[in-house]
Amino acid sequence: MFYKIEHNDIGTSARAGVITTDHGTFETPIFMPVGTAGTVKAMHQRELEQEADAPIILGNTYHLYLRPGLNIIEQAGGLHKFIGWKRSILTDSGGFQVYSLSGIRKINEEGVKFKSHIDGSAHFFTPESVMDIQRTIGADIVMAFDECTPYPCEYEYARKSMEMTHRWLGRCVTRMAETEPKYGYQQHLFPIVQGSVYKDLRLKSAEVIAEAGCVGNAIGGLSVGEPAEEMYAMSELVCSVLPKDKPRYLMGVGTPENLLENIALGIDMFDCVMPTRNARNGMLFTTQGIINIRNKKWENDFTPLDQGLDIYLNDYYTKAYVRHLVHNNEMLGAQIATIQNISFYLWLMREARKQIVAGTFREWKERMVKQCMQRL
Ligand code: GUN
Repeated sequence: MFYKIEHNDIGTSARAGVITTDHGTFETPIFMPVGTAGTVKAMHQRELEQEADAPIILGNTYHLYLRPGLNIIEQAGGLHKFIGWKRSILTDSGGFQVYSLSGIRKINEEGVKFKSHIDGSAHFFTPESVMDIQRTIGADIVMAFDECTPYPCEYEYARKSMEMTHRWLGRCVTRMAETEPKYGYQQHLFPIVQGSVYKDLRLKSAEVIAEAGCVGNAIGGLSVGEPAEEMYAMSELVCSVLPKDKPRYLMGVGTPENLLENIALGIDMFDCVMPTRNARNGMLFTTQGIINIRNKKWENDFTPLDQGLDIYLNDYYTKAYVRHLVHNNEMLGAQIATIQNISFYLWLMREARKQIVAGTFREWKERMVKQCMQRL
């Protein structure tokens, strides 16, 4: 069985579940660190496993296809072997990166023509080619090819785009059914709900996506600049339609607060570049609040980064030292900050799950949002 609910929260729509892929079983809610090009930037695979205890990471079709290219990944025996990661992997389809990264692009019913952000070379993605590429990359969970609409977005554009995403889903499902995994383990397709911030479109899209009968479902097109309240409203609406007995993945979200609020609405899986990207800019997420480690106030603070986390960093490093490293653009600063942020995000998910099981999630969430979002 791919997904099993172990506990439904009483006060909210939160769920404590378990997902099983051929690379392991892990508990939900879960945050998946983003490893765009086959690396969670500045973090060793060993640290991901042993410090943060991340059971699943994300890769990007768009980036991996461009570099190192499919030939190398296939020769290595798939992405897991290539990067030395024995646990689960999910790959995004490029349905977001093509739009956000490549300069020139042309979308039509057949697919998307785009230019590489690396060397300007021309490429064409179709729902079929993106499924084939993800077969070669070999992730455990693969995403359908979609169009992620920008915000704001005209109603008519959002409607037409959503309908095309639905037709593309049909082509993705067919292609997956016609092809076999290349490396001897199963690959599961997740379709993606679109529809911008329009309620009728989101409802329609959730119905179509539910109808596809995949083992899990995703919600895209959010966290693209809309107010958080609008994101929550869409998330709640879509969760009311998507099947309860399948995991729901909210793509590209978000802050610790966004995660906790969306868990309460029934979301089980998340990914976001925020903990890794912000770490490299000196923003630390901790159990006590947010630290801008560049700030002068940490100059002579010789306490550990986050005593609320049971993490080896606390045995070695102080805030003053990490501030010094980040100030000097030392690589170690980015590494320590990334371990902290990813470990905190994974801790937050484990803690949320414990509270769901204990029946204390709602009160804990209110407290934790205030605590971990305050600026120290
Ligand atoms: N990542 C964040 N949002 C999206 C989306 O709407 N589609 C895809 N494919 N990836 C995303």
